[in-house]
Formats: sequence, structure tokens, C-alpha cells
Amino acid sequence: VRAAATVEPRKRPEYVPNRIDDPNYVRIFDTTLRDGEQSPGATLTSKEKLEIAKKLSQLGVDIIEAGFPIASPDDFEAVRSIAMEVGNAVHDDGYVPVICGLSRTRPQDLDRAWDAVRHAKLPRVHTFIATSEIHMKYKLHMTPEQVVDNAVTAVKHLRSLGCTDIEFSPEDAGRSDPVFLYEILAEVIKAGATTLNIPDTTGWTLPHEFQGLIAKIKANTPGAENVIISTHCQNDLGLSTANSLAGAMGGARQIECTINGIGERAGNASLEEVVMAIALRGKEQLGGLYTGVRPVHIATASKMVSDYSGMIVQPHKAIVGANAFAHESGIHQDGMLKNRDTYEIMSPETIGLARADEAGIVLGKHSGRNALDTRLKQLGFDLPKEQLNEVFKRFKNLADHKKNVTDDDVLALVTDEVHQP
Ligand code: KIV
Repeated sequence: VRAAATVEPRKRPEYVPNRIDDPNYVRIFDTTLRDGEQSPGATLTSKEKLEIAKKLSQLGVDIIEAGFPIASPDDFEAVRSIAMEVGNAVHDDGYVPVICGLSRTRPQDLDRAWDAVRHAKLPRVHTFIATSEIHMKYKLHMTPEQVVDNAVTAVKHLRSLGCTDIEFSPEDAGRSDPVFLYEILAEVIKAGATTLNIPDTTGWTLPHEFQGLIAKIKANTPGAENVIISTHCQNDLGLSTANSLAGAMGGARQIECTINGIGERAGNASLEEVVMAIALRGKEQLGGLYTGVRPVHIATASKMVSDYSGMIVQPHKAIVGANAFAHESGIHQDGMLKNRDTYEIMSPETIGLARADEAGIVLGKHSGRNALDTRLKQLGFDLPKEQLNEVFKRFKNLADHKKNVTDDDVLALVTDEVHQP
């Protein structure tokens, strides 16, 4: 049985800001429209953001971080229109995404963020302040006590506005003193925060380290049992997906990620990687974890984000790269033609991709006779063995000089052979 054949959306638990009734459910917090848009050169118009938000809702993400409302009047408008439209479009099964806006701890930022998201059925404000020594000293010029005070005041301010779904992030948590994290997190819980997001802002931690950090925060922060712990992993060492999964193993039940992994510098944890890893291996290897995302919309979401943001997806990108379901070497092609499970752990159809070719065969210099014969038959040529051998020889010569041998090339080769005097 192909592992991917078992991917079926499961019913998600009812949304309560600080609680998930099913301990195995992992919330997917998509930040394509906020952290993703912070990729250099990836600016999106408010119309594009609205369309992407609709796609994210179709995909079934639990939370859409729609932007940073204080950043610009256009971003405010984008977040507001997403809150009004997408944040009120309830699906048949009762699901509607939470619409979130990011804010620093300043009162005017918080007011602006709340003003943008409050129109949604499920509004959330995400506020943050840095907690690592290097950030507090050089960026904020604040003492740890002042940072705690700022964070607590911000959360209380949001409560006073009527916001009851409040996320707090100690920025650069991956390089912060864990003991200081326990202290500030305990204080913001007391003030009314419902989700504690733990950002590995600089992508510094290793998976076992990040898992340990989440587990320690859960164990040592008074009140942590009454809130959701979340991960936000940047990809500077290429570990963002691994760290996010490790965080979930440590007890996090919200993962922040972006479509195609776009984001600041080397990007953020990629939604499609996190979701498919949980969908395919969650039961066996991750203690039964699952998400509410519908993988069948991944391919169209990836294409939309790439088209609108101009951030091209690398061909070998996991899950959504152009080569993710393509097979070039003869040994692989032979295996694929016999049984697709030999070299694929999921089918392209699982993520909503219609495969142009039955077995994802790409003809090139590593391809074998079986693959060429299959393609010839698809093109209507069932050649006797000798002729096939001749065409195969010419094909190999051509493929030595051409990266991809197209159907037109194959037709030219076979026409030459068949019409030889
Ligand atoms: O990378 C980061 O620390 C962030 C926070 C605002 C969550 O984006």
C-alpha cells in the first residue's frame, strides 16, 4: 500500500484559543503573508494577499497570519479585508481560519493590529519582544526586567481591547537563557496570553536541542499546561522542518510555517514539508500526530505563492519542486515502471498534482531501454527489438549532449530509424 494513499483529512477539534481537546492535533499556523512576505523582494499587493488567504483557507490551515498591520496602510487594509472576508467564510464542516496580525509591544501597534483583525470570527493578535542577551543589549537597549514589563503590559493592553486570543513570542528564543524564558512566559500567561510561540529566529538550534527547549519550557513554566506551545523555526542551517517536528515531539501543538518555505533570509519551515511529514509518518513515528490540512491543495497553493511573490521554487525542493516526482536514471525508471512505490513515498496526486506521464519518467542520459520503449509505445511506436536497440543507441548519443530529451526528439529519432532506406 502506498503510504500516501492513506492521507485523508481528519475532523479537526473545535477551536478554543488556549486548549486543544485532542492531544495529538497539531495546529498549522501559516505565516506566508507575514514572515513569508519578509523575503527580500517578495512584496505582495493586498489583492494578492486576499487571494492567497482564500487558498490557505481552502488548504485548511488553522491560523493565517495575514500581515503586520502597523507596517503600512496597505498591509493594514490587507489584514482587515482578509479578516472580514476569509475570517468570516465558514466552511460546511464549521471550520473557519483564525486571522492573526503581528504587532510589537507598543500600544499604537497593538491597537492597529487589533483594529485590523477584530472583524474576523476568530481574531488573534501576535505580539513579540526579544529575549536573548544580544537582542536586549544591542537592539532594544533594555534590561530583562524592562522586557518582561513590556511584554506583560502588551498582553494586558490586548485584553483591555477585548482580544482574548493572544500569542506571545520571545524573539530569538533559540539563543535566549531558558531560565529567563520560563520567567517571562509565566508572566505573560498570568497576564492572559493563550499561545506561547518559541521562535528560533536565527535558525541556530539543532533538532534535539530545540525539542529539549520546548520540553523544558513545558516542564518549568508555571501555567504552561493551560496554553498552547508553538514553534517558529527559521531555516539558516536548513533545519527548520526538522526542528519544527522535533518541537512537536517536545510537546508543541502549533507549528508556524510558510508555503514553499519562503521567509526572512533562508526562509521559514515549509508548510508542505511539515504537513506531509506529519501526514505520512505522524502515526508511526510522531506518536499519532495529525493536522487539519488538506494536502490535495498543496500544489496549487505553492504555484500561487510562487507566481505572486516571484520567489521561484528550486527544482529539487521537497514535495513541490518540479523534480519532486520526476525520475531520470534507468534503474529508477525501471523500478517506477514496474511499481511506483519503488521510488516514491507519496503520489503527486496526493498534493493535487496531475502527473503528465504515468511514471514521472524524464528522458535523459541516465535513462534506460525500458523507459525509452515505454515512451515510444505512448507515442504509438511498438518497435521490434532490433529497431529498438538502434533507436536506443542514437538516443544515448543525443542524450549525451542534451539535458532533456523531448517527445519531439524521440519522434525524430524513431522517424529516422523507421524510414531508413
Ligand atoms: O523569526 C521570528 O522571531 C519572528 C517572530 C516575530 C515570531 O518572526
